[in-house]
Amino acid sequence: MRPTLLPYAHQTIEPDDLAAVNAALTADWITQGPLVARFEQALAEHGGVRHAVAMASGTAALHAACWAAGLGPDDEVITTPLTFAATANAIVYRGAQTVFADIDATTLNLAPDAVKRVATARTRALLPVDFAGLPCEYGHLLPLARENGWIVIADAAHSFGGAIGDRRVGSLADMTTLSFHPAKLITTGEGGAVLTDRDDLADRLRAVRHHGIQRGDAKRPWRSEIREPGSNYRLTDFQSALGLSQLGKLDRFWRRRDALARRYRERLSRSPFVELPSLPEGLRHGWHLFVVMLRLERLRVTRDTILRALRAENIGATMHYPLVYRHRFYRDRFRYVAGLCPNAELVESRLVTLPLFPAMTDTDQDDVLRALDKVFAHYAR
Ligand SMILES: Cc1ncc(COP(=O)(O)O)c(C=O)c1O
Repeated sequence: MRPTLLPYAHQTIEPDDLAAVNAALTADWITQGPLVARFEQALAEHGGVRHAVAMASGTAALHAACWAAGLGPDDEVITTPLTFAATANAIVYRGAQTVFADIDATTLNLAPDAVKRVATARTRALLPVDFAGLPCEYGHLLPLARENGWIVIADAAHSFGGAIGDRRVGSLADMTTLSFHPAKLITTGEGGAVLTDRDDLADRLRAVRHHGIQRGDAKRPWRSEIREPGSNYRLTDFQSALGLSQLGKLDRFWRRRDALARRYRERLSRSPFVELPSLPEGLRHGWHLFVVMLRLERLRVTRDTILRALRAENIGATMHYPLVYRHRFYRDRFRYVAGLCPNAELVESRLVTLPLFPAMTDTDQDDVLRALDKVFAHYAR
C-alpha cells in the first residue's frame, strides 16, 4: 500500500508561475491592471473567439453568462443533472426555471433527443456541460438551438483543452464558461472566464463583472451609469499573471493527462468490473476527470464501499457528481421525483473518479491500478 494519499486532482505550480505572480504583486496595479487584458486576449486566441472576459470564478462566469443572456423569471433553461450544482444554481440566481434533460448513458453528456423531449415554448437557453472533459454533441445541439431561437451557454469547466475536429472548446457555443479552480486544467487559485464571439454579449459580460456600470463617453470618462445592477466578479492582476503563465503550459499539461488517460483506458478496458465512458471519434477530450462506471452486478457491494476500500489503500478516488436534482433545495423547490432522468440515475450509483493530474507519475498510476485489482478481487461476486 502507498504511504501517502494520492489525491484525485492537484494543481501544478512551477517556479516560473511563482515568479510571474511575484512580479505582478509588486507592480502598480494588483487588480484590473494590464495583465487581466493580456490574459483575456490569450484566452480568446486559444479558444478561437473574439472575446474572453475574465471572472472571479467559474461560478461567477456562469452567473454572468446567464445575466448577459438576459434570462429571467419567465424563462426555462435546459441543463444536465450530472454536473456540479454551480451550473444549475446560476439559472436559479436569475429567477429562471431549471429544466433537467437526461444524459446519454455512454458519453455521460446531455442527450439531444432528451433535450427535445423537455423543451417547451418557454425554453430560452441550453446550458450543456462537457462532463469530465468530453465536448458535448454541439453538432446536434446548436442546430436545435438555432431552429428554436435558444441561446447556448457551454459550461466548459472540465473541457478547456478539448476540441471537436479543429474547433477548440471556447468556440463551440454562443458563450463558453471556464473555471480555473486548482483541480481544473489550468489554475488561477480561484477564477474563471466567459468566451464569446458576440460583441453585444462581451459588453454585457464586462458590465456585470463591474457592478453593471456602463462606461462614460470620451468627453466625460468619469461619468458612469448603471442600467441593471451587476456584481464584483473581477479577477485580480496577480491571478491573471498566474493564468497567463499556466495557459502557456495547457498543451503540455493536456498531453500528460492524455497519456495517463490512455494508459488507464488500455488497462481498464480489460477489467470485468468497470465500464468506460465512450470516446467518440473526432473529439478531443479535455481530461479534467477520469471516470469509470462500476459493473455493480459483478460486485457484492455498493460504489460507496468500493470508494472507502480505495481510500483505505491511500487512493483518493471519489465521485462526480450527486445529481443536481437530488439536492434538497432542488427537490423541495421544484418537487423533483426519482425517475426524472433514468440514465443519469442509473449512472450516478456506479460512478467512480480515479486520480488524474499532470504531476502524477506512472508509479502513482500503477498504485491506483493495483489497489483496484485488490479491491475488486475482494468484493467480486
Ligand atoms: C461543471 C462545473 N461548472 C462550474 C464549476 C464552478 O467553478 P468554480 O469552482 O471556479 O466556481 C465547476 C467547479 O467545480 C464545475 O465542475
